[in-house]
Amino acid sequence: MPAYNSALVFGATGAIGKTTIECLQSRNLKHILATYHHEPPVQVSEYKNVQWIQFEANDLQSIQGIKSSLEQLNVHLRAVIFCIGIPSSKRSIAETLQDEWLELYTTNCVSFVNMYSALKEFIRNGKASVVVLSSDTTHKIGICNGPYTASKVALEATALTLAKEEAKYGVRVNILAPSLVDSPLADHILSLKGITDREEYMKTLPWGRTLTTFEVAESAVSLALDKNWEYVTGQMFRLAAGI
Ligand SMILES: NC(=O)c1ccc[n+]([C@@H]2O[C@H](COP(=O)([O-])OP(=O)(O)OC[C@H]3O[C@@H](n4cnc5c(N)ncnc54)[C@H](OP(=O)(O)O)[C@@H]3O)[C@@H](O)[C@H]2O)c1
Repeated sequence: MPAYNSALVFGATGAIGKTTIECLQSRNLKHILATYHHEPPVQVSEYKNVQWIQFEANDLQSIQGIKSSLEQLNVHLRAVIFCIGIPSSKRSIAETLQDEWLELYTTNCVSFVNMYSALKEFIRNGKASVVVLSSDTTHKIGICNGPYTASKVALEATALTLAKEEAKYGVRVNILAPSLVDSPLADHILSLKGITDREEYMKTLPWGRTLTTFEVAESAVSLALDKNWEYVTGQMFRLAAGI
């Protein structure tokens, strides 16, 4: 039986991850592997052709479940979209404890490295395209976000290095760095910043709004799978408004 096309989404229960699954379903993919951390979505049956697998970014062994699934399936892995990410506590650097630095660095960056090392044969065999979610904060370098910004800068450096190292296998690696996205994570960030009037805050943003999850997810899926992006690797795209 010929191998069929598949994609793998990390952090697929998140706001951007979920929309990424929907965008992938509109492409010609027979099978999608999706990771959850705490619980799979309640309406699992709504996700046609999606296999949900538990993944804990801070546990090196956790990737074995995904590896076993890929070994059992006869799939051609076309895309890996990495949407895992946790925010900082929004304290200043002088007030942030070491545990927070280590947790963000491990979850936001090292887990990507561990994932790639463990799955490299499948990614190389499929000449898969890898898309990593960073953040526009790496451009802004705002105050009181040190561990998050530093973890995403580390993730970007890792992804750009990987793009050069893995090109010989036909693997492409690119980064999307969105500004604030309409999501529970954004609401959480605004509350940590002490912003209570959401409407007023939106007026301060370019175009008076955040990005939508669709704008981010569709960009990720297009970059990974659409023919017009096949030349492009080792690039970082800021989904932001420079106005
Ligand atoms: N939302 C924004 O405004 C925004 C802006 C710029 C960049 N980004 C980046 O875009 C990505 C997706 O953001 P989002 O808004 O979709 O975030 P989200 O809704 O909080 O989703 C994060 C995902 O990561 C998973 N996750 C968290 N900790 C994990 C761990 N230790 N092990 C395994 N999985 C873990 C979560 O699983 P559970 O749900 O099971 O915990 C969830 O699936 C992140 O990298 C984020 O930094 C977001």
